[in-house]
Amino acid sequence: MTVTANQNVRPLTCKRDANGDLTVGGCKISDLVKKFGSPLYIYDYETIHSIVTDFKKAFKDTDIHMMFAAKAFMTQAICKIMQKEGFGLDCVSSGELYTAYISGFDMKNIVFNGNNKTENEIRQAIDWGVELFSVDNFLEAELLNKICAEKNIKINVLLRITPGIECHTHEYIQTGQNDSKFGFDLEQVDEIVSLIKNKYKNLNLKGLHAHLGSQIFETQVYNDAVKVLLLEAKRIKDTHGIELETFNIGGGAGIKYTEADKPVSIYEIGEVVKNALAKYSREYGIKNLHIYMEPGRCIVGTAGITVYTVGSSKQVPNGRKYIAVDGGMADNIRPALYQADYTAELVSQKNTKDTEKVTIVGRYCESGDILLKDTDFPKTEPDDLICFYDTGAYCYSMSSNYNRVLKPAVVLVKDGEAQIIVKRQTFEQLIESDTIPEMLL
Ligand SMILES: Cc1ncc(COP(=O)(O)O)c(C=O)c1O
Repeated sequence: MTVTANQNVRPLTCKRDANGDLTVGGCKISDLVKKFGSPLYIYDYETIHSIVTDFKKAFKDTDIHMMFAAKAFMTQAICKIMQKEGFGLDCVSSGELYTAYISGFDMKNIVFNGNNKTENEIRQAIDWGVELFSVDNFLEAELLNKICAEKNIKINVLLRITPGIECHTHEYIQTGQNDSKFGFDLEQVDEIVSLIKNKYKNLNLKGLHAHLGSQIFETQVYNDAVKVLLLEAKRIKDTHGIELETFNIGGGAGIKYTEADKPVSIYEIGEVVKNALAKYSREYGIKNLHIYMEPGRCIVGTAGITVYTVGSSKQVPNGRKYIAVDGGMADNIRPALYQADYTAELVSQKNTKDTEKVTIVGRYCESGDILLKDTDFPKTEPDDLICFYDTGAYCYSMSSNYNRVLKPAVVLVKDGEAQIIVKRQTFEQLIESDTIPEMLL
């Protein structure tokens, strides 16, 4: 099966030059840090282009809408890339929608997801031109119907269901199992369908949505998801006489954070999904399928790297050696949040044979601010640069200003050129929302 970018630890263009210095997108990483500062997020255009192209090829004979899950990494530049590549967006907040809107994104090509959309967000989404909602719960259905009635419009909806499928990933990134905070349980589907049919006349029920979880390495779960969705569609047709044609099978494809990870090729997922669609649509008599997918992590994860500068180090007597870098949990919360593992390398190749066991920690005031635990690493000195791979998804998008540290810049590289897509935060921006009330003056 053709290898796809998500099966690499490193961005596709990442290599060492003749001096052993790491380059990406034709740019020397140490030069990028000199120019744009440290820490630095770098995205490789070629890797993103390669994986979206593979998605398109893997599903080329299917009526499929590919929607990039913006939660993985959202900026105006990524909206431009996705629009250019023919991908839509899966958004979950008015902030994500606004970013897309202001970037000039085609808002008709967005699905609005989320388990607790506020009334204001629903209104904004409609005003900005969103035409497809994935309705997550009873309150949202009622609110959305009320707003659409006021506006005298009918909106297309999918029902997010919890398909009761457990995938083998971290508990915090499983979403399709029973007892999930997301979506309608299968026993609640009849009630919501009846409400839409009989009461919520401004909702146009088009189909069903399920998302199983993230960082999935199996393919069988996609077959199971398609089966549950189409079987549910048959049941709805038999019980309520409503024919559903649109099915959103979510995202979830895994990436290779370390050599131990074995993510599958996008083509393998394509085969399983296409076979399942053919089989179950035939078996359950569901016709004219329109399919949506919402990959996030695998579109941008491998493309992104974070470069840090080494600062202090500490050898605990008879214990660990800690190397501290100038970033950490505020630019990458994943190790602290769910023990995510990473691959890191020195940017310059010096001393590569002289290794020691170290724990690479961040600069933030939490003992859990550990980026990489007990790893064999070349001996470092202050000012050495360390590159963490696979930080393109759920790092910048989950970043914070913890300890009032400024957020790093984000740079896009392509063919030897590097351009800023998010400027490094400034102190002015840091305090821009602070106010000192009169009572304190
Ligand atoms: C509804 C939905 N769709 C898509 C995604 C994207 O998942 P991934 O980044 O694993 O592809 C998520 C992530 O949590 C999600 O909740």
